This record gives sequence, C-alpha cells and structure tokens, in this order.
Amino acid sequence: MKTEEASDQGSALGGRILKVDHAGEQGAVNIYRAQIFMARWTAPSLVPELREFKSHEEGHRALFAAELKRRGVRRCRSYWLCGMGGWVLGLITGLLGRHAISATTVAVERVVLGHLKAQLRELAGKDEAAVRTISQIVEEEQLHHDQSASHVQANHLWTRVLSPVVALSTESVIWLGMRL
Ligand SMILES: [Fe+2]
Ligand SMILES: [Fe+2]
Repeated sequence: MKTEEASDQGSALGGRILKVDHAGEQGAVNIYRAQIFMARWTAPSLVPELREFKSHEEGHRALFAAELKRRGVRRCRSYWLCGMGGWVLGLITGLLGRHAISATTVAVERVVLGHLKAQLRELAGKDEAAVRTISQIVEEEQLHHDQSASHVQANHLWTRVLSPVVALSTESVIWLGMRL
C-alpha cells in the first residue's frame, strides 16, 4: 500500500513536471520561430542552425504532448504564457542580431538543463516513464547550449545584458508553471 501511495505521488509530481516541460517547449519553439523571422534580415548565416534547433524543439513538444496524453493529463495553464513570452523574447533578441540570439539560447538552455537534471534526480525511482521522456531531450538541449556558446563571447554587451534577464525570465515561467 505504502509503495502504491508513493508511486501515486511520484506520478502526480511527474505529471506536473511534464506539463511544465511541455509548456517550456512551446516557449522554445516560439523563441526560434520569432528569431528565424528576424534573423532573415539581422543574422542570415544563423538561420539554418535556428531552423535545426526549432525542429528539435517541435520534437520535444510532441514527446511531452504524447506522454501527457497517455496519462490523460491536460496541458499546463502556463502553455500560452510560455508561447507568448517565447515569441516576444525571440522577436526582441532576433532584432538585436546574431550575438543576442546565441546569448539567449545559452542563457535559456543553461537554466533548462539545470532544471532537467534536477527533475531527473527528483523523479528517479518514482516515475520511470517521466524519467525516460525527459532523458530523451537532454542531449539536444545540451547541443543547443554548446553550439550557441561557441558563437558567444562572454564579455560581449549582449551577453552581459541579456544573460541575467533571460535566465530570470526562464526561471520565473518555470516557477509559475509548477504552481499554476
Ligand atoms: Fe526543448
Ligand atoms: Fe533547446
């Protein structure tokens, strides 16, 4: 009985986390969609990479959507907020050019990767289906981080200005999503 209770709690927590991750992927898709829109003028050489990242994020979103559906769990109430926030963030940073675009990805992914790793630790042994789903996206998020970091200079103006702002916004939507 006790273990069943524990696994119920684990799957409630897993469902909560999967909802937030699903909403986050909608945000990520929209960041790239808006950045691609702007980068056609401000940073054309970055567009192929942004398209590749966007297609990964669409895959992640579908993965979380499928797992939520399997559980009969509805999407997070923060889904549209994440989508709109991502769109606005993508437009502004896309307008600022290639350095701002890559600095944004680095800042977002650093926060995201920290959360994903914490989620995996928290869900280990409690919700293996959630662990399997989350594990599948870590490698690509790491790739987005590393590839973007290779374009970014740490002391560049946009890195210094955008990193804390973007990191705080990302933390805030995750915090809010876990509470909605
Ligand atoms: Fe993603
Ligand atoms: Fe990503």
